[in-house]
Amino acid sequence: MESTASRSHQMKAVTLTSFSGPEAIAIADVDPPSIGPNDVLVNVEAAAIGPWDLKIINGAFAAITRHIPFPQVLGWDFAGTVASVGANVTHFAEGDPVLGYSPQLFTGVGAFAEQVAAAASFVASRPLELSPSQAATVPVCGLTAQKLIDTAEVQRGDRVLILGAAGAVGGFATQLALDANAHVSGTASTADLDVLRARGIQAIDRITDLETLEEEPFDLVIDLVGAHASQAAIPLIRANGRLISAVPDNVPHATKDDVEISAIGVNPNPTALARLSAAATRGAIPLPKVGAEVALDQARDAFIALARGELSGKVLLLP
Ligand SMILES: NC(=O)c1ccc[n+]([C@@H]2O[C@H](COP(=O)([O-])OP(=O)(O)OC[C@H]3O[C@@H](n4cnc5c(N)ncnc54)[C@H](OP(=O)(O)O)[C@@H]3O)[C@@H](O)[C@H]2O)c1
Repeated sequence: MESTASRSHQMKAVTLTSFSGPEAIAIADVDPPSIGPNDVLVNVEAAAIGPWDLKIINGAFAAITRHIPFPQVLGWDFAGTVASVGANVTHFAEGDPVLGYSPQLFTGVGAFAEQVAAAASFVASRPLELSPSQAATVPVCGLTAQKLIDTAEVQRGDRVLILGAAGAVGGFATQLALDANAHVSGTASTADLDVLRARGIQAIDRITDLETLEEEPFDLVIDLVGAHASQAAIPLIRANGRLISAVPDNVPHATKDDVEISAIGVNPNPTALARLSAAATRGAIPLPKVGAEVALDQARDAFIALARGELSGKVLLLP
């Protein structure tokens, strides 16, 4: 069936006109993305805003995204249904429910739009038990957690400290570390400590001074916060232990020679994406809390509210 966007030859999208924060966001009519032979075109039903989108609009990654002309279409995480597929794509067909992400920072093809194009390797089938809003919370955060756990090669009995465990990546990383039979601790705001305890991990108040925490040393720190928090965690890591950060714009510097510090970025992994979303349908992995569902038209106000700290939980944009 022909979509509204293709009938009008233009689609509604959330665009950025300069790297000057939420005020530079405009809702505009733009050309729908074209697809190559290995791509999938998706009718977006929900798209999730992540903290990285806020960093992008403020120009934190301007050096990477400089080659993409303004206005840039924003957005990474999406869930929707397949509109069409490229000639080499055989495992998706029009109408299939899917979830995935678009590496917008590198390509300029954003998910905050009526349609998004992504390489098929960035997309997985969406279990119908997950609403589009729930599903859109999975791709970037779930795959980042998977990358952290895989990179660390977490083993049974490893002592793992997750900084920012109550957040979206933190929820996925906590469960994946528990699934690997690690001993997991996490830091969070006071209000979120019960969430961590309910997940069966040791809860450490972020206000607690990590430097004076009396703990057996950790084998691994997973850093989802950066800045002072990750710097303060380095003395808690055992000799030849590791800190792996998902905050590449704020990696701590080494204060111990025998601790390895590295940073990762999200990678496409359709097998893991399918497994994570299937686990979410069984309740075997906690999904980030949906804080608000907002019409695409209202994206600018949503970004302003997020930047002011007035919204908590995941904010979903609905075209
Ligand atoms: N490298 C990549 O490819 C990649 C991919 C995804 C995410 N990221 C980055 O990873 C980070 C986490 O992302 P997310 O989606 O999980 O964010 P999120 O859902 O906003 O979660 C962040 C969590 O950290 C908590 N927090 C803040 N300061 C803290 C501190 N000092 N100690 C302990 N907890 C603290 C927050 O609590 P409050 O809300 O109470 O402040 C919140 O629960 C972001 O910086 C994001 O940009 C990177």
